Amino acid sequence: MGAHKQLKLGAMLHGISGNVGAWRHPEVPPDASVSLEFYKRQVLAAERSKFDFVFIADGLYITEQSIPHFLNRFEPITILSALAGITSRIGLVGTLSTTYSEPFTVARQFGSLDLISNGRAGWNVVTSPLAGSEKNHNNRKHPSHSERYAIADEHLGVVRGLWSSWEDDAFVHDKPSGVFFNPDKMHHLNHEGAYFKVQGPLNIARSKQGEPVIFQAGSSDSGKELAARSADAVFTAQGSLEDAKAFYKDVKERAVKYGRSPDDIVIAPGIAPIIGQTAEEAEAKYQEVASLASIDHALEHLGRFFEHHDFSQYPLDEPFPDLGELGKDSFQSTTNLIKRRAQEGGLTLRQLALELATPRTPFVGTPEHVANLIEQWYREEAADGFVIRGMLPSFYDAFIEQVVPLLQERGIFRQEYESDTLRGNLGLSIPQNRYSAAVEASVEGE
Ligand SMILES: Cc1cc2nc3c(=O)[nH]c(=O)nc-3n(C[C@H](O)[C@H](O)[C@H](O)COP(=O)(O)O)c2cc1C
Repeated sequence: MGAHKQLKLGAMLHGISGNVGAWRHPEVPPDASVSLEFYKRQVLAAERSKFDFVFIADGLYITEQSIPHFLNRFEPITILSALAGITSRIGLVGTLSTTYSEPFTVARQFGSLDLISNGRAGWNVVTSPLAGSEKNHNNRKHPSHSERYAIADEHLGVVRGLWSSWEDDAFVHDKPSGVFFNPDKMHHLNHEGAYFKVQGPLNIARSKQGEPVIFQAGSSDSGKELAARSADAVFTAQGSLEDAKAFYKDVKERAVKYGRSPDDIVIAPGIAPIIGQTAEEAEAKYQEVASLASIDHALEHLGRFFEHHDFSQYPLDEPFPDLGELGKDSFQSTTNLIKRRAQEGGLTLRQLALELATPRTPFVGTPEHVANLIEQWYREEAADGFVIRGMLPSFYDAFIEQVVPLLQERGIFRQEYESDTLRGNLGLSIPQNRYSAAVEASVEGE
C-alpha cells in the first residue's frame, strides 16, 4: 500500500490540452486555455469528486513551433486566485520557476494565494528547462542544469525562510492600546547566499496550513535530491509499473537519508486515462485524438525537449537518431526517457514523435481496468496518488464519473474531504514557524 492511508488525486487543468493535436477535436473550445468559464467548470467537477488538488503547469518561452496551449494560456497564480474564490476544499497548485523569479516575490504570491484560499495553496517548483527563457528575462544567461538546481535549492530555502517572518500570534490587533503587532514575533531572514541576498521580513503572514505545499517536478538525480530534501510532493512522468516503483523507492529512500519519513513526501505520477465501455472503444478514442497530430507538428514538439533541435532533417522511417548528449542540459530526465524508449522499443523517428505527441499511458480501457491499475500502482508502492490529465474534456468527465466512484467503493479514495487545507487532505503535517519552533526547543531544553 502507498505510504499514505488513502490515494491522492490531482487534476491537471490545461485548457485545450497539452497534447499536440487534441485542440482540433470538435468538443474542445478553442479558447479553453484562456477561458475562466472552462477552468471553473473543471475545478468544480474535481472538487465535487473530492480531488486533493488541481495543478497548473507553465513555461516561459514560446516559438512558432510551440504546441497551441503554450501559445496563449493563463499565468498559474492568477487563474488559481480566481478559482480560490469559487471553491472551498480543493488544493490549488501552480508552477513557478526558481530560475527566473525573485524569492521575495514568490513567497508573497504563494503566501497570498494561501491566505486567499484559506490554506489550500501549493507551489510546483520547476527550474525552467528552455534556454530561450533568458531572452524574456533581460538575457540573464540561462544556467546549466546543475546550476539551475543549485539555484532552486537556495531559492526554496529563502522562500521557506520568508514564510516564517511572522509567528502565528504576531498580530495582536489590540485596538485599545494601539498595538498592531508584537515586534518580538516578527523576524528578519538576513539571507546572503551564492545567488540571493534577501533581508525580509515578508509582508504577509502564514495561513492555517502553515506554509504552501511544495511540489517538485523534475526527475533527474538533481531533481530527486531537491525533492527528497525539501518537497512535500513530487509530480513525475512514469511509463510503466516497474519504472514507477523504482522511482518511488528511490525518492523515499533519499528522503529517509535526509532524516525525513517516507510519509512526508507524496509521489504522484501524471496519467492520461481514457475510458471506454470496452477496451476496443477506449483504444479507438485514443486513436481518434492521436490522428489529430500531424507528423510535422509532432516533430516540432519533440524538438522542444531537445533544445529546439530540428528533427525534420532526419529520415522519418529509420531508427531514432543518435543525439549524443543533446537534451541533457534542458529536459534531462525526460530526454533520457525518450532516448531509452526509442532504443528499447526499436522505434523509428516517426513512431516516437507521434507517440510523444499523444502520450499513451497504460491507463486506457474500461472503468474497471483503469481502477484496477490505479489500485495496483497504489498498493504496490508505485504511487501515493496521481495527477490526472484529460486529453479531452469528455475523457476528464469520464474518469470523474466512472472511475472515481469505483475507487471510492473500494475504500482507497475518500467520499468526503478530511480537511479544508491542502496539507490536511494530503496527510502532511503543518510545518512549525521556525522561530516558534526554536523558542519551544530552547524552553524544553531548560
Ligand atoms: C513530470 C514533469 C513535469 C514538469 N513540468 C514543468 C512545468 O510545468 N514547467 C516547467 O518549466 N518545467 C517543467 N518540468 C521541467 C523541470 O522542472 C526541469 O526544468 C527539467 O525537466 C529538467 O529537470 P529534470 O531533468 O530533473 O527532469 C517538468 C518536468 C517533469 C519531469
